[in-house]
Amino acid sequence: MASMATDTQREVTVYLRVRRYNPEKDRKPWWGEYTLDGVSPTDTVLDLLHQVKWRIDGTLALRRSCAHGVCGSDTMRINGANALACKTLVARLSNGGDEVRIQVEPMLGLPVIKDLIVDMEPFFAHYREVMPYFVNDSPPPADGRERLQSPADRARFDDTTKCILCAACTTSCPSFWADGRYQGPAAFVQAHRFIYDSRDEAYEERLKIVADQFGVWRCRTIFNCTNACPRDIEVTKAIGDLKLSITSGKV
Ligand code: SF4
Ligand code: F3S
Ligand code: FES
Repeated sequence: MASMATDTQREVTVYLRVRRYNPEKDRKPWWGEYTLDGVSPTDTVLDLLHQVKWRIDGTLALRRSCAHGVCGSDTMRINGANALACKTLVARLSNGGDEVRIQVEPMLGLPVIKDLIVDMEPFFAHYREVMPYFVNDSPPPADGRERLQSPADRARFDDTTKCILCAACTTSCPSFWADGRYQGPAAFVQAHRFIYDSRDEAYEERLKIVADQFGVWRCRTIFNCTNACPRDIEVTKAIGDLKLSITSGKV
């Protein structure tokens, strides 16, 4: 019996627009337009960019590594919203027809180095500001065991351990677009991960850092960060926890 093709098997044509910019030769950014036939709806946007780079124009510049949503290196603006290219299926951008229009741009708020590659250093500088490492100068337990923690204590920061530092949150935040000195949601997620760890001893110092004039009070609860996070971290809630701890003095 002949089997019927399902929607996920039917090939489509993708009209892909990619924001291009090479500061060594372009006076301003321009749109590269590519027609890709025979695309499977289960292909990802990263697959499409590879098709362009490997078959049409090898000068296209983009970052990627794992291709499985783990390394966080291929965040970009896809049809106007930040996402990992390797986790965005063509099917998700389709309205069910035979043609799919996809527009890809670099993240906003960070300087473009070339095409889809932005300078991540301002983002990582904010990350480093919040002391994203475990601090505990007390002697370890005498019996040689690890510093123990109850399941309930671990649960307090479980969500924020999932961050892969992809920058999708910070570069979708209007407060960050308005002023790059804003520490941004990714830095707050990292601060949260250590502040609420019962084994860490630097929570007061970190709370002071995020209470800075470019800290959490510049968050206007816009929620773009939460919507953009590919790890489904409740970013805005984490920021709310920090605000509460700053005002109450308690963690
Ligand atoms: Fe990416 Fe989410 Fe971490 Fe922000 S909180 S850097 S969106 S993984
Ligand atoms: Fe920005 Fe997220 Fe706050 S988008 S304003 S950090 S809730
Ligand atoms: Fe690693 Fe997409 S390439 S997250």
